Amino acid sequence: MQAVLWRRYGAPESLTLGEAPIPEPGPGEIRIRVHATTVTSGDARLRGCQGAGIFWLPLRLAYGLTRPRHPIPGMEFAGVVEALGAEVTGFTIGDRVFGLAPRGAHAECLVMAETGCIARQPAGLSHAEAAALPFGGLTALVFLRDVAQIRTGEHILIHGAGGAVGVHLVQLARHFGLTVTAVASARHGLLLRSLGADVVLDRAAEDFTAGAARYDIVLDAVGGTGAQAVSRVLTPRGRHVFVNFGTRDMGLMLASRLRPGPRVLCGYAPGRQADLLTLRDLVEQGAIRPVIGHRMPLTGIIAAHALVDSGRKQGALVIEILSGG
Ligand SMILES: NC(=O)c1ccc[n+]([C@@H]2O[C@H](COP(=O)([O-])OP(=O)(O)OC[C@H]3O[C@@H](n4cnc5c(N)ncnc54)[C@H](OP(=O)(O)O)[C@@H]3O)[C@@H](O)[C@H]2O)c1
Repeated sequence: MQAVLWRRYGAPESLTLGEAPIPEPGPGEIRIRVHATTVTSGDARLRGCQGAGIFWLPLRLAYGLTRPRHPIPGMEFAGVVEALGAEVTGFTIGDRVFGLAPRGAHAECLVMAETGCIARQPAGLSHAEAAALPFGGLTALVFLRDVAQIRTGEHILIHGAGGAVGVHLVQLARHFGLTVTAVASARHGLLLRSLGADVVLDRAAEDFTAGAARYDIVLDAVGGTGAQAVSRVLTPRGRHVFVNFGTRDMGLMLASRLRPGPRVLCGYAPGRQADLLTLRDLVEQGAIRPVIGHRMPLTGIIAAHALVDSGRKQGALVIEILSGG
């Protein structure tokens, strides 16, 4: 099968396109014919194995100390089940599925455990649309529900609202009954309004920390908002939440626990099957829709990584492996 090959950590050019054996599913595993995958900010970060500060070592231990242990990268996928290992009970051949694999999605075939972050696709979506959902959608769900612990009627400001995580944060926050202010480059304005943002601020022209509005939650989807400046625009029980964070932000989180007033929160979104099922329900209810900012073929994998590295992605960057459906 054709696959992206990842033999060393580094720039986008460290990836090559090549042939790999078709993987066989073991007990409890299924093989998926991948129709669409994506290049996410997570894929780009892993490619170079860049972990801020203390995260570097755990990342290297997980993925390979000097070079990648597993030769095929890629997490997000949508496709069709084409083979079942022994003892598989939850899926049948021909099921349209989507999800987040630990690795291996940048290939024509992918094997993963049926208990992993995989589910049948929401009804009515193309493979490309289904592939655009899990990474941003699951992160947004976990950060709103579990980390920020949102309540109906609160006012949330989402910084970095145009990216894969941001477009889902805007839609879910709106669905859960929050007032949404989105901060992004002007080029995302129309999209963010169509997704339900009540107010959209151009990040190049307006400094939300200097305005009169007060927020219950400032959710920073990209990093870079200053804790001191943000604390001035938070309500007394406000939360400043970092999706992308480093050791300094973790220190601020611990310090904020020791004093009254707004809290700083960091978190991690694991890919859980139960949350993927919730996400599927939310799509089928019409609460959220996938946002595809860019489409490329598998042969464009280096350009795709370069675009993600630029930090200017809108929504998901989908790689179409098999055309149709
Ligand atoms: N903790 C977790 O479990 C977890 C899970 C998923 C992702 N993440 C992290 O979350 C971050 C966002 O992920 P993503 O997938 O949404 O990224 P993405 O799709 O690449 O989007 C990034 C967005 O950020 C905006 N941006 C870039 N620089 C900015 C700046 N200085 N200030 C404000 N906005 C800026 C860009 O839009 P404009 O420049 O056009 O405005 C772009 O749309 C990544 O760092 C990722 O590693 C963490």
